[in-house]
Amino acid sequence: MNIAVIGGGVIGEAVARNLAKAGYNIIVTEKRSERIRELERIGLRVTSNNRLAARQADIIFICVKPKDVKGVLEEIREDAENKIIISVAAAVSLSFLRKLAPKSKIIRTMPNLALIVSESFIAYSPSPDLSQEDVEVAVKILSVLGKPYMIDESHMDAITALSGCAPAYLALIAEALTYAGLYAGLDRELSLKIAAQAMIGTGKLILEGGKTPSQIRDMVVTPGGVTISGLLELEGFPIRHAFIKAVKAATEKSIEISSQISSEG
Ligand SMILES: NC(=O)c1ccc[n+]([C@@H]2O[C@H](COP(=O)([O-])OP(=O)(O)OC[C@H]3O[C@@H](n4cnc5c(N)ncnc54)[C@H](OP(=O)(O)O)[C@@H]3O)[C@@H](O)[C@H]2O)c1
Repeated sequence: MNIAVIGGGVIGEAVARNLAKAGYNIIVTEKRSERIRELERIGLRVTSNNRLAARQADIIFICVKPKDVKGVLEEIREDAENKIIISVAAAVSLSFLRKLAPKSKIIRTMPNLALIVSESFIAYSPSPDLSQEDVEVAVKILSVLGKPYMIDESHMDAITALSGCAPAYLALIAEALTYAGLYAGLDRELSLKIAAQAMIGTGKLILEGGKTPSQIRDMVVTPGGVTISGLLELEGFPIRHAFIKAVKAATEKSIEISSQISSEG
């Protein structure tokens, strides 16, 4: 299967690398010659011609910034007819995408940076005119990049704010725990590794071990022990409040950008 990845930035490169590794025939498009050379150096087939790439493809990933989506779809519209278009662009709605490429089969997705290591939560919303078979083809491809979950598009702003931004939120926690380790006398590399492994481990306890966060807390805390002393300190800070406010602000921003993009269309 031929897949065109339009936009070879952070996300486009990760999509292209992982799909190429999985055996798909990939062509990436980029505008800047310096970036083209970088992508070629890592073994990807690259062109600056979006139309050519779209014409040769069975499936087209749109990996440009939200502000560039309109221009790209206007450019490749004819070459993308009857083909599946998977957009990863934040805040760009299905209706906007469908208006720009009415004869294509469109799927809006929201991955996160963890698709670099094929561990992204990938929310996806297919356009209602897609067949079950088209959706299955897209899901098989998305599965190479992480865990696809079909969601109602009305949740996409909240998912962008929670899932799309989550690597940044969790990186902040990893950094805070690293400082905590440094303060406790551990070296930086060891502290960071401990923090990162604890995140993976806790995630797996939830997803694979079926534990809830409160069960995990109860399993670690012993009476008069070490963890309760640490938790007592954390209780003095509004951590849940901080995350709720962060996701609320990010959701509002996503809604704002989305309506801005729609009004420009
Ligand atoms: N980064 C994330 O964590 C994340 C998470 C979820 C979703 N997304 C979505 O993924 C998309 C890409 O994000 P990113 O972080 O990968 O951005 P990025 O690194 O800026 O990548 C976009 C790439 O597209 C290229 N480009 C722009 N216009 C083009 C055109 N007409 N034809 C071909 N290539 C073109 C850009 O080249 P120039 O630099 O020369 O302009 C750039 O290399 C965005 O829509 C974003 O909302 C990102």
